Amino acid sequence: MIHLEKIEKEFLQGQEKTSVLKGVDLEIKKGEFVAVMGPSGSGKSTLLQLLGGLDVPTEGKIEIDGSPLHQMKEKERTVFRRKNIGFVFQNYQLLPTLTVEENIAFPLHAEGKITSEKSRRVQELINSVGLKDVSNKRINLLSGGQQQRVAIARALIQNPAVLLADEPTGNLDREKAEEILALLSTFHAKHKQTIIMVTHDIFAAGFADRIILFKNGRIDQIISRKDDNYAQYLAHFMA
Ligand SMILES: Nc1ncnc2c1ncn2[C@@H]1O[C@H](COP(=O)(O)OP(=O)(O)O)[C@@H](O)[C@H]1O
Ligand SMILES: [Mg+2]
Repeated sequence: MIHLEKIEKEFLQGQEKTSVLKGVDLEIKKGEFVAVMGPSGSGKSTLLQLLGGLDVPTEGKIEIDGSPLHQMKEKERTVFRRKNIGFVFQNYQLLPTLTVEENIAFPLHAEGKITSEKSRRVQELINSVGLKDVSNKRINLLSGGQQQRVAIARALIQNPAVLLADEPTGNLDREKAEEILALLSTFHAKHKQTIIMVTHDIFAAGFADRIILFKNGRIDQIISRKDDNYAQYLAHFMA
């Protein structure tokens, strides 16, 4: 359902061109949970931005469910993104002075009035991320783990087919990280979103169907849960 073909991305800084993605080909199946790993600066976040239609490739094709993101005008991409893509970031990116409920409902305002059906969905999500008791609290009074739960609920409010997560557990301790991964995993099992998660944490990557190793703007290696040496591979990483 996600098709990347010969993706290249260059950034221009003054006169200088930096080539960040240098020919990425990738197919991701509908409902797949994929982890992207690799050194800092290897282009992982850039790849996620392109997948989410926040930016366009310099060269190459990106298709999601048959829609060619690389051919869309910015407005069209924005509409596509709102409908089909949810984002979760390392630093949560919530509105600190709004409440939990207001943050989760926020994406719905772009589409006009909050109907009773929509508010039901907000309440449902608040419950399923375990934040019922704090739903009227402001974000800046919550712990990091709670904030990431809010961010996940906000990302899922439109029922997106694709969830993109950029180091979602990067600011959390192990226990909180495990809770967030368990939550993502539960949503994935239930709703079969396609999940693409950038992570430095091999424990987090262990939740994925495939691990894509990125190196210097290219896919270096792909390891699948189905591969015979998957466990060995993880162990090698953790060593
Ligand atoms: N908007 C931008 N303008 C210029 N350079 C950028 C921009 N975004 C990313 N880069 C550069 O691209 C490289 C890859 O960045 P990034 O995709 O964030 O890597 P990663 O997420 O793997 O750490 C870095 O060298 C970074 O400085
Ligand atoms: Mg990054």
